[in-house]
Amino acid sequence: MIIRQATGSDADQIAALLAKSFLEDTSVIRVSIENNPRYSLSNMFVIEDKSLGGGVLGCLRITPFEVYSRGEVMPMGGIAAVAVQPEARRRGIAETLMEDALRKMYEMEFPVSMLFPFKHRFYKKFGYAYVGNLAQYDLLTGDILNLPERSRVRAFVKADRNKVKRVLEQDIQLRGSFTPTRNDSFWDLVVFPKFKEAYIYDDGETKGYVVYELYKEPAPVPGAFGEPIINIKELVGLDAAAHRGLWGFIGSLGEQVSRVRYLAPTDYPLHLFLKEPRERDYRRLFFEYKSFSTVASGFMLRVINVPDALRRMKHSLDAQADFVIKINDGNLPQNSRPFNMHVHKGEVAVEETSRPVQFESDIEIFSQIYSGFLQPGDAVKYGFAAADPSILPKLDELFRAPSPFIYQFDIF
Ligand SMILES: CC(C)(COP(=O)(O)OP(=O)(O)OC[C@H]1O[C@@H](n2cnc3c(N)ncnc32)[C@H](O)[C@@H]1OP(=O)(O)O)[C@@H](O)C(=O)NCCC(=O)NCCS
Repeated sequence: MIIRQATGSDADQIAALLAKSFLEDTSVIRVSIENNPRYSLSNMFVIEDKSLGGGVLGCLRITPFEVYSRGEVMPMGGIAAVAVQPEARRRGIAETLMEDALRKMYEMEFPVSMLFPFKHRFYKKFGYAYVGNLAQYDLLTGDILNLPERSRVRAFVKADRNKVKRVLEQDIQLRGSFTPTRNDSFWDLVVFPKFKEAYIYDDGETKGYVVYELYKEPAPVPGAFGEPIINIKELVGLDAAAHRGLWGFIGSLGEQVSRVRYLAPTDYPLHLFLKEPRERDYRRLFFEYKSFSTVASGFMLRVINVPDALRRMKHSLDAQADFVIKINDGNLPQNSRPFNMHVHKGEVAVEETSRPVQFESDIEIFSQIYSGFLQPGDAVKYGFAAADPSILPKLDELFRAPSPFIYQFDIF
């Protein structure tokens, strides 16, 4: 079997394979793989086997992203379009593609990689860890507070495009956690065409916006009406007034729409904008708990190069400190050496060491820690890492970060 970079002459076979694998139209896939603002065919790798006819048996794409994490931009290899011909499945072809992709991403100097899995446990074998834990809210518009700042919300017009771009850029710089940046052509070709229902918060300066889709649920019984729903695709606010204004605006649509869906980071304090944190059709008056959101499991992250990823961290530790860590990585053994992290004035210096190891885990657990999703102390507490207990409070502080979050337009 050989794995090689795709070329223009593979486009037909790749489009047909992806269409079959993701139940999409071949012509739509063809346009998206050849005319995409984030990647090109050269980011795609195909696997072939002469003994099996020599055509494309499987493919995978490594999309080069930049993500904001702890206020800094870093490269990220996004794995997507993993597909294998139906007749060649369950023989380890996707596994071979993944093992090769890890080596390639190491050579390409990506410190981290992310992906949206079809099944978490498949990618776990390659060191990817579940970090995409989001809250899927299902709210009643009537349960949103009536907030006066909503009077500063107005409809988005084309002339607002640059203002909207600036709001998102500032937002992800401040609180983005492994959140992709967007280039101008991605905004123009992918995002702005979806700004059909879009509103901005403007108090002299544009400080936020919301984009949603409005649709009717299927009718519960023939002849009945389906309930209208607002599905918020993106809500961004740079300050308190912008968040209050945008939620107040959504609440004010109650005469037309009774329900709101919103996928948010788990640490977004949406309850602040609600009169009642409760579910739709709530009837159990004497029950102790009401559910107004469910937990949605999504994307995964893997650290590809441990020392490089550590060096890219900015942190807020006051005192200088040293930690010796060892991360066991079966796919990329270069990572499995003891490294000393020297932490000083917001920077992390990393070098190999022969000093005794103070923290040890496998790459999957370390990837969760690195992303800010799991505290080192909890990894040890629940038996997924070993550490000298005296360093844990400082390690917890060092790795603290907001919940990893990818906006819906950036799902890849
Ligand atoms: C998902 C997909 C790419 C997997 O491709 P594949 O080549 O069949 O994958 P593999 O054979 O490497 O692994 C699949 C499973 O078969 C198992 N397997 C591998 N070789 C095997 C063999 N010889 N005998 C039996 N099982 C085998 C693997 O261990 C794996 O099991 P797990 O899921 O429990 O970990 C393929 O099913 C596909 O194209 N699906 C549609 C598109 C899609 O969903 N893509 C994923 C996007 S994230």
